[in-house]
Amino acid sequence: MITTIAPLIRALLAVDGRLPLLSWATTGHADVSVTVPNDADEKTTLAALKAAIMPGTRSVAVNGHGTFSARPHPGTGRAAGKVAMVTGAAQGFGLEIAQGLADQGATVILADMNVAGAQAAADAINASAGADRALGLAMNVTDSDSIHSALDHVVKAFGGIDIFVNNAGVLKAGSVKTQSEKDFAFVTAVNYTGYFLCVQGVAPIMARTRRVLPMAWTDIVQINSKSGLKGSNKNGAYAGSKFGGIGLTQSFALELVEDGIKVNSICPGNFFDGPLWSDPKHGLFQQYLATGKVPGAQTIDDVKRFYEAKVPMNRGCRTIDVLRAILYLIEQEYETGQAVPVTGGQEMLA
Ligand SMILES: NC(=O)c1ccc[n+]([C@@H]2O[C@H](COP(=O)([O-])OP(=O)(O)OC[C@H]3O[C@@H](n4cnc5c(N)ncnc54)[C@H](O)[C@@H]3O)[C@@H](O)[C@H]2O)c1
Repeated sequence: MITTIAPLIRALLAVDGRLPLLSWATTGHADVSVTVPNDADEKTTLAALKAAIMPGTRSVAVNGHGTFSARPHPGTGRAAGKVAMVTGAAQGFGLEIAQGLADQGATVILADMNVAGAQAAADAINASAGADRALGLAMNVTDSDSIHSALDHVVKAFGGIDIFVNNAGVLKAGSVKTQSEKDFAFVTAVNYTGYFLCVQGVAPIMARTRRVLPMAWTDIVQINSKSGLKGSNKNGAYAGSKFGGIGLTQSFALELVEDGIKVNSICPGNFFDGPLWSDPKHGLFQQYLATGKVPGAQTIDDVKRFYEAKVPMNRGCRTIDVLRAILYLIEQEYETGQAVPVTGGQEMLA
């Protein structure tokens, strides 16, 4: 019930279309009290809340469901006033996307299986940007119970979600001739099924904003890959999961537009500075050097130069490139179902 009630109250307490943050507590003082039958559907719940909430109301007690109190959103910038949840945010793109959105004024939730990493990153954001700007949470995108418990936590802490960045992803390269079914299933479960499960969990929460505010848009942004636009040699599990992700994005976009949710993918090129490529022990540069994948390469730098030279702009993708695309998609109110390449010209759309 709280994932139904809180986003509706948050939207009803918006002032001039600006959504507050909303805290939940089991008890406490409230400006108004509302009785909602335990078996009430969303429509009945909304009608009861609308009847009780007046201009100037800042807190609402709902019988048996606790007290919901608005607080102002602290941030400023291009994502000010937004609650943004990023999966796979303990490291790599996800971590830097969360940091970048916080810099642009969003309140961010860093969700990851690596909960210690997510919480440490959230603590660092709160220390630099100010308290109440970030929350680190445990979440496994392949497990719907874990997703629902994370979403429940977010809604109790902030009242709703405006931007969901589906970033968690894994790669296990392998030839179709030899790759184990287990490795194929692992990549598919995180990159493809995980996207479906996350959208299934988050979309109903986001849709509640539009039920109250008919002009409001919320955003789902999937971090896809250039491998979602073109096949990848001996890397079929990954490319297949990313191609499939674009199919989901287009289909979800068609379906969720009536709920005021835009759904888009971003297809970055290789992120050479991130841990996937640059980790000194297990990174792809190290692996490719050790296995002699790049003919004549003697050092990590030789391997790196080989891959950089494949990019017309002669460098790897950086998180700032991806962040600019995210901010574009959030601000753009006439774009949904797209797959935006951010590849320095390495992949071009027809
Ligand atoms: N690194 C690149 O070159 C590159 C290029 C294009 C696209 N991408 C995409 O960007 C996204 C992030 O990639 P990255 O390189 O930053 O990855 P990364 O390996 O550095 O980080 C991935 C994060 O996801 C988390 N994670 C893994 N499985 C999870 C699960 N089941 N539930 C929750 N969290 C989980 C990990 O703990 C980790 O913190 C992925 O979707 C990837 O496909 C990466």
